[in-house]
Amino acid sequence: MTQEELFYSIFENIPRQGPGTKASTLKAFSAIKTLPQDAQILDIGCGKGVQTFDLAEVTNGTITAVDNHPFFVDFLNQKASGLNLQNRVTAMFADMNDLPFAEKQFDLIWAEGSIFITGFENGLKNWAKFLKDDGYMVVSEAAWFHNNPPEEIAGFWNAVYPDIMSMEEQQKLIETCGYQIIDLFQLPKEGWLDEYYAFMEPLLESARNEYCNEPELAGLLNVLQTEIDMYKKYGDYYGYAFYVMKK
Ligand SMILES: C[S@@+](CC[C@H](N)C(=O)[O-])C[C@H]1O[C@@H](n2cnc3c(N)ncnc32)[C@H](O)[C@@H]1O
Repeated sequence: MTQEELFYSIFENIPRQGPGTKASTLKAFSAIKTLPQDAQILDIGCGKGVQTFDLAEVTNGTITAVDNHPFFVDFLNQKASGLNLQNRVTAMFADMNDLPFAEKQFDLIWAEGSIFITGFENGLKNWAKFLKDDGYMVVSEAAWFHNNPPEEIAGFWNAVYPDIMSMEEQQKLIETCGYQIIDLFQLPKEGWLDEYYAFMEPLLESARNEYCNEPELAGLLNVLQTEIDMYKKYGDYYGYAFYVMKK
């Protein structure tokens, strides 16, 4: 087993691939008041598509979901067929850094817990061209909720994602990139603890027992466990900020 195989064996077997809740997805969606009935929606970095299917419940539009991990693409398409949604929910393999879409193709771009992969500023700037003139973008992104976080958690984030910003800095950047902020809120803690880490932690524990003599695999499991431990200890200081933006 390689590190990559172990990584995916964990992420393929949990419902969400990042922190989130259905209530937060629906809250962000409900802030959008002027979406056409037949809206064209793009879900970037969809994973297994929890938010994709939550959106499919509240819109009659067409959702294109993209991910660069083939298992997630196949999973989502099979689930769409099982729910008889294959005519308006489709997953495809694509790289969020080089999306194969036309300019002004979408009414709404959705990216829960994934814009960090291309970079917050990059995503805001590079994905705008795929939006219609009065289109919307919704993202959730890691943010500091308090100034002056303790050294231990500041050091952790500096190592894993030094581009993390405060919500004030993110709001300024969003406006500089030409969007109007329609709504913003913090993902509640249950989005991390109950909907995400509660599923991941038991898988880490059993993998730790299985791979305790394989230092590379044990190292990956430690990295994932540390992320959970840090959130449990310092989850007041940071989290995911949701932004609903209009182009
Ligand atoms: C943190 S997960 C979030 C998944 C999902 N939105 C959720 O909240 O459950 C990020 C997703 O982005 C995908 N991903 C990573 N790099 C990508 C890329 N370059 N292009 C497209 N998708 C990518 C991963 O496979 C993963 O499914």
